[in-house]
Amino acid sequence: MNLFVIGRGGREHSMIMKLAESDKVDTIYAAPGNAGISEAAECVDIDELDIGGLLEFAVKKQIDLTIVGPENPLLAGIADEFHEAGLVIFAPEKDSALIEGSKRYAKAFMEENSIPTASYATFTDAGEAKSYIEQQGAPIVVKADGLAAGKGVIVAETVQEAMGAVDDMLVNNALSKAGKSIVIEECLMGEEFSLMAFVHGTNVFPMIPARDHKRAFDQDKGPNTGGMGAYAPARDISPKTLAFSSENVLQKAADAMAAAGQSFTGILYAGLIMTDNGPKVIEFNARFGDPETQVVLPLLKNDLLQVFLDVLGGKDPSLQWEEQSCAGVVLASKGYPGSYKKGVKLPEMDMDAHSFVAHAGTRKTRDGIVSDGGRVLLAGAKAAEVEDAAEYAYKWLKQNVHSEEFFYRKDIGKCD
Ligand code: AMP
Ligand code: GLY
Repeated sequence: MNLFVIGRGGREHSMIMKLAESDKVDTIYAAPGNAGISEAAECVDIDELDIGGLLEFAVKKQIDLTIVGPENPLLAGIADEFHEAGLVIFAPEKDSALIEGSKRYAKAFMEENSIPTASYATFTDAGEAKSYIEQQGAPIVVKADGLAAGKGVIVAETVQEAMGAVDDMLVNNALSKAGKSIVIEECLMGEEFSLMAFVHGTNVFPMIPARDHKRAFDQDKGPNTGGMGAYAPARDISPKTLAFSSENVLQKAADAMAAAGQSFTGILYAGLIMTDNGPKVIEFNARFGDPETQVVLPLLKNDLLQVFLDVLGGKDPSLQWEEQSCAGVVLASKGYPGSYKKGVKLPEMDMDAHSFVAHAGTRKTRDGIVSDGGRVLLAGAKAAEVEDAAEYAYKWLKQNVHSEEFFYRKDIGKCD
């Protein structure tokens, strides 16, 4: 089969490494890909949002299955257009991807379907938003309605900080259209975990739970990022909590979308927080998480292509997981998530028996591989215990990365 993977990050590199293990695969194409992806797939220079260009390429190369990594093409309607052209794509259509694309929509959806989540209110008027904040007090969470590349959520410790976020979004248009409408919600306390599932209509097949480290610096300090590292499984989440979350979050959401005529196909991702009153949803995503994917897929025993085909064919893929743990540490450009330099040369990467590297912001040049983004790569490893897996990943980073132009958190897999 010829496969086509859309995206350019660590998540896509990880999917491609796994897909490449399948003996059913002839060629994997990736658009636009990165330096690591180009080792395992044929990269084509088409932007993720150039839906017409992607479609034309898929038709020309007789692609049997397209898989989409990031959210933007989903909300731009890539699945709708591929379906219209009679192509097979493992991705939700834009109506069902709205569960990620609009926080306001997602909150109303959860409320309607009794999916546990933080209490909330929505606003477009700054004055009304501020009165609500005065009434509720801090801590409180202010969220932009639309996609804001990780910049749309402010967990405000004080009323003043929350008011500032309201001004930024509703008055100063800091997030332009994405922040024209906001959700203000109760600040939940507890351990976070990410639960992803392969979904087709009302068939839901959950993966193992993972934990992402979202803050830029050690001890969960600093600004939110796309994710500075992750590990799986999150063993502190009990089987009971997992069963509850699968049933009352993922299954309920899939059933509700199907009943509303917006049947979901693809990866449904729930970001959850384990509160004293049980797990509650922080966010839904309509795609694989990044960097969770990089630590979940290495533990999957199944042929990933067969899983996609089974799920699309209405069959149980009977997911099997290694008994081990997997940890991944993100190497980021100095300055990330603020401004940073691109084009910094990366070292020759020596792999050892334990570790793997998922490339994110990397690019091949005549002089070797250079950085091309805020998150450059993820160094990962597997071991019986998460701490040992993290230690292998750190050992690899220490041996291979010596440049001051990059940084990484030192506590992945340690702080819960
Ligand atoms: P998101 O961009 O929606 O993934 O949110 C980023 C981070 O903000 C989450 O991983 C949480 O750590 C935090 N967060 C979002 N919503 C809440 C909430 N209601 N209560 C506490 N923390 C939250
Ligand atoms: N790791 C969180 C996300 O992919 O949105």
